Amino acid sequence: MHYLPASNRYQNMEYRRCGKSGIKLPLLSLGLWHNFGDVDVFENYRKIMHLAFDRGITHFDLANNYGPPYGTAESNFGRILKKDFLPYRDELIISTKAGYDMWPGPYGDFGSKKYLIASLDQSLKRMGLDYVDIFYHHRPDPETPLEETMGALDLIVRQGKALYVGISNYAAPEAAEAIRILKELGTPCLIHQPKYSMMERWVEGGLLDLLEAEGVGCIPFSPLAQGMLTNKYLKDIPKDSRAAKSTGHLQETQITEGALKQVRALDALAAERGQSLAQMALSWLLKDPRVTSVLVGASKPEQLADSLKCLDKMAFSPEELAEIESILS
Ligand SMILES: NC(=O)c1ccc[n+]([C@@H]2O[C@H](COP(=O)([O-])OP(=O)(O)OC[C@H]3O[C@@H](n4cnc5c(N)ncnc54)[C@H](OP(=O)(O)O)[C@@H]3O)[C@@H](O)[C@H]2O)c1
Repeated sequence: MHYLPASNRYQNMEYRRCGKSGIKLPLLSLGLWHNFGDVDVFENYRKIMHLAFDRGITHFDLANNYGPPYGTAESNFGRILKKDFLPYRDELIISTKAGYDMWPGPYGDFGSKKYLIASLDQSLKRMGLDYVDIFYHHRPDPETPLEETMGALDLIVRQGKALYVGISNYAAPEAAEAIRILKELGTPCLIHQPKYSMMERWVEGGLLDLLEAEGVGCIPFSPLAQGMLTNKYLKDIPKDSRAAKSTGHLQETQITEGALKQVRALDALAAERGQSLAQMALSWLLKDPRVTSVLVGASKPEQLADSLKCLDKMAFSPEELAEIESILS
């Protein structure tokens, strides 16, 4: 099958400026953590990518260790890129990361210059790219000096292997320090990627304020709490769901009666708003202008199509917001 992207792909997507940078990101971006590995079905995830791009999603987010096995999300993405997207490379923002364990021994984990430089070289080979648009340090390293890690990000940009850099999973004080060092080096931090959803709200305790003050973008990951913030677990654990898969990061033990009670109440409120719960969970994040883009996952094209409808209803009344707070408290 030859892929020809929809000619109206930019008509129904809004793009927000990423901090104080030249880059704008679509309100929804697609993450390839799950569902793009060698354990998954090529034609299915290829369709997910086609739908994404057809609907104005220009940003695809990867990491060295996405799969499983590690590395295969990048190599599968590279196959699709070569097959379908090479004429559109300049319309895409492709990101990858290093920071979690990737290869054995002391040089395949955390934040050394040795690890970051080698890992990005491997990622570029797997994806068949000369450069990525954004390279992230995936998580803070308690032992390596931050100057070394940020120095590696700066070097990578100067080598032309990434256009911009970001940090992920950094708490506010360490993010402040990383942002300061990068500014001094002349490679400003473009973006921070934290976990943020209705069920995980640590960023509201200072990180969002910091990013706004520093002109750094914010792209929340796991906005649906890996599927918990949808109606899928209300009756049982579907066989094809992340919680049922041995390779999924959502554990059955996380689907507690307490969590389901909240999910049921949120689902009812979403229905009153004329949305699916997934849509409401995404709209709820996007109501904050400090959120540049929301990084969603999908195991089927239909899920992404459903999630994209969040863009039709992004406003919340004060009463709805108060009800959400009371459900979550
Ligand atoms: N920086 C980091 O440390 C980090 C960590 C985690 C993730 N991320 C990034 O964030 C991206 C998103 O993370 P995530 O996959 O955990 O996000 P998520 O959007 O919270 O969860 C995605 C899962 O939710 C379900 N789903 C999605 N849309 C749905 C819909 N409309 N209706 C019903 N169910 C729906 C699917 O579950 P089923 O598979 O059960 O169908 C899908 O696999 C990742 O791909 C990655 O790029 C970054």
